[in-house]
Amino acid sequence: MRLSPSPLISAEQIRQRVAHLGRQIDAEYSSLAGEDGLIFVVILTGGLFFSADLARNVNTPLRFEFVAARSYEKTQSNGHVVFTHRPERSLEGKHVLVIEDILDTGRTASAVLDLLKADKPASLALCALLDKPSRRITPIQAKYVGFSIDDHFVVGYGLDYEQQGRHLPEIFTLERE
Ligand code: XMP
Ligand code: MG
Repeated sequence: MRLSPSPLISAEQIRQRVAHLGRQIDAEYSSLAGEDGLIFVVILTGGLFFSADLARNVNTPLRFEFVAARSYEKTQSNGHVVFTHRPERSLEGKHVLVIEDILDTGRTASAVLDLLKADKPASLALCALLDKPSRRITPIQAKYVGFSIDDHFVVGYGLDYEQQGRHLPEIFTLERE
């Protein structure tokens, strides 16, 4: 795995942006969420690091659920997304924010939103750390976006190249070997 010599997005840029997103989420949900609080539905595995930092910048009462989605390569052109983990508790009547590492074609996030809609949440929105709008196939917009980027393959802060590099505190672009 060869990464760009300097990060595309530094740890400090991420820290500041995540703190800002936390304030925006509080402004929107602190009154709405009521006693039940807000539910982060984190898309594994990439959303793990982002959601953990974001949660520590949110004062609204918060619970976590997780979904794991896999899109099979052979059927990727059909946007075939299979869930290997789903929320354990019902989201009916809850305020739900889906936390995604990166919005690329939009298929994964769109399939997750469709899955969760069936539970009839009080509200359902999407928060993505990164957005590659030029790659979009399924029309979908995140309510909160950390950074909008060009069409690079990126690694770090939850994002992997063949499961490597998730733990890096910065975000790098992957360079061709
Ligand atoms: P879609 O196309 O469904 O893709 O929006 C979302 C998922 O694809 C992965 N993905 C990436 N992972 N660097 C990565 O490490 C990237 O640049 C990248 N682009 C897409 C990611 O798992 C995301 O949830
Ligand atoms: Mg991945």
